Amino acid sequence: MTEFIPVLTEEEIEKLVAGVARKISDDCKGQDLILIGVLKGAFIFLSDLCRHLKIPVNVDFVQASSYGCGTSTSGNIKLNKGIDIDIRGRNVLIVEDIVDSGLTLSYLYEHIKNCGAKTVKICTLIDKRERRETDIHVDYACYVADKGFLVGYGLDYAENYRELPGIFHLKL
Ligand code: IMP
Ligand code: MG
Repeated sequence: MTEFIPVLTEEEIEKLVAGVARKISDDCKGQDLILIGVLKGAFIFLSDLCRHLKIPVNVDFVQASSYGCGTSTSGNIKLNKGIDIDIRGRNVLIVEDIVDSGLTLSYLYEHIKNCGAKTVKICTLIDKRERRETDIHVDYACYVADKGFLVGYGLDYAENYRELPGIFHLKL
């Protein structure tokens, strides 16, 4: 039987996102910042985050996928959609739903650096450290989770449950 164990309510998420947005607004005051959301998981987080920011931003999206499916990354990352706007010499904040092994973000970080960004920082809704395989530095995290497969607020399992307003630990 599939079980949904509550991890964060809608209200808790809102407070966490507002808190991280405050930090980003302070740290990046006076900078021209580009938010690059990682599709599809970050679509809700990015749209809430940017409305809490107190600085002007540009927004773009990338989509990466790893071969294979299920609940872990294979490590073979493929870029399905790249950046449309010119990021040369600009400050970029990658906005991700969840960092697990860190392989997707390591790939995206390098890709964005290679596109000529001046600075690249990472902001994630959830930092899940148990299975980390890289030494990627997460600059901003709303919530640190030790383990478990999480769904809701953009996060999916086989494309399901993204629409849930809260975040749940999915037990299959
Ligand atoms: P990584 O490359 O292992 O860090 O995996 C990153 C990607 O895997 C995330 O952007 C998610 O799309 C997906 N992922 C990893 N853990 C979870 C989870 O607990 N729930 C939903 N998606 C996840
Ligand atoms: Mg993702």
